[in-house]
Amino acid sequence: MSSRTAFEAKTLARRYYVDDDVYQQETERIFFDRWLFVGRASAIAKPGAYVLFEVDTESIIVLRDHEGSIHAHHNVCRHRGTRLVTEPEGTFPKSIQCGYHAWTYALSGALTGAPFMDEVESFCKENYPLHPVAVAEWEGCVFVNLSDAPEPFEEAFAPITDKFTRWDLPDLEIAHRIVYDIPVNWKLVFQNYSECYHCPALHPALNRLTPFRNAWNDLEEGPLLGGPMKMEIEGGSMTMNGQRCAAPLGTLEGEDLNFVRYYTIFPNLLLSLQPDYVLTHRIDRMATDRTRIVCDWLFHPDAMAAADFDPTPAIEFWNMTNEQDWMVSRLSQQGVSSRAYTPGPYAELESMIAAWDREYLRVLEG
Ligand code: FES
Ligand SMILES: [Fe+2]
Repeated sequence: MSSRTAFEAKTLARRYYVDDDVYQQETERIFFDRWLFVGRASAIAKPGAYVLFEVDTESIIVLRDHEGSIHAHHNVCRHRGTRLVTEPEGTFPKSIQCGYHAWTYALSGALTGAPFMDEVESFCKENYPLHPVAVAEWEGCVFVNLSDAPEPFEEAFAPITDKFTRWDLPDLEIAHRIVYDIPVNWKLVFQNYSECYHCPALHPALNRLTPFRNAWNDLEEGPLLGGPMKMEIEGGSMTMNGQRCAAPLGTLEGEDLNFVRYYTIFPNLLLSLQPDYVLTHRIDRMATDRTRIVCDWLFHPDAMAAADFDPTPAIEFWNMTNEQDWMVSRLSQQGVSSRAYTPGPYAELESMIAAWDREYLRVLEG
């Protein structure tokens, strides 16, 4: 076990969960500055396929062009600013056309058509491409960064660049998705995920598969936190019956088959790696007291193609666990919104929350 690092820290003050000023500061310092998880590259596998990704005032078109490259553009026409696209996902035939005056953009973002603008002497199409957004792909996951000067993705993700290659994550496909919408501040979702102190009381089934003291952390400071947890059943998985529902992923073997791994990727992704499937929670901050969570169950396409493939035990297990977590997180939001709430002491078993809070405050308040 590695050393614990709660350092007698206390929970965040009330204002971080209820204040509009804090919310605005988070928008600028965190969500308009950090790499944000959008979703799986396989969701835009075909040429012209896109998804919209929305953060606060911003709407980003994330698409694949006909050469196979991924681009991200602000969903803002360069003529009079109109939203170009409203459907959350779809496919562009060859170009993106504004519905207002029919300015037309290539998938690369270049302006290719601007009716009657040749009547404007100074006008030059080259000066009006869609505003680009930085985009990166890692392990089959697409990220965007809205900053004008983004931290290089390779630097931001250096601690985990090659950490999960044994799972062959780029190959995995979404077998199931559940979207939750809960009246909870987004930070409570991260904090809840970052400890298993609550597992005996809240998750009896999970605690039977992975007793709460079976966890330790191999990333203990900074924006990427978490570590492995040993399962009671050798070669098992986090499912209703504790057994795998597919063959082990990638090249996993030996001790890897006895562990589940939990990581928080600041500020909007939870990554849970079981031996046979992977769970992603994308955390969408919607308001001080509202969070949407897009939870995907990822399996290998070979497993999904098998006639007897049944991911139900994995889906039911995490849906049950999620609902238990959301239930108690709702109660947390209600309590920390009270004028009677004052910060309480973290247990040593909550050292990862203390580390998460430190990183959050460092980014927010510098
Ligand atoms: S606002 Fe888009 S073409 Fe005029
Ligand atoms: Fe939990």
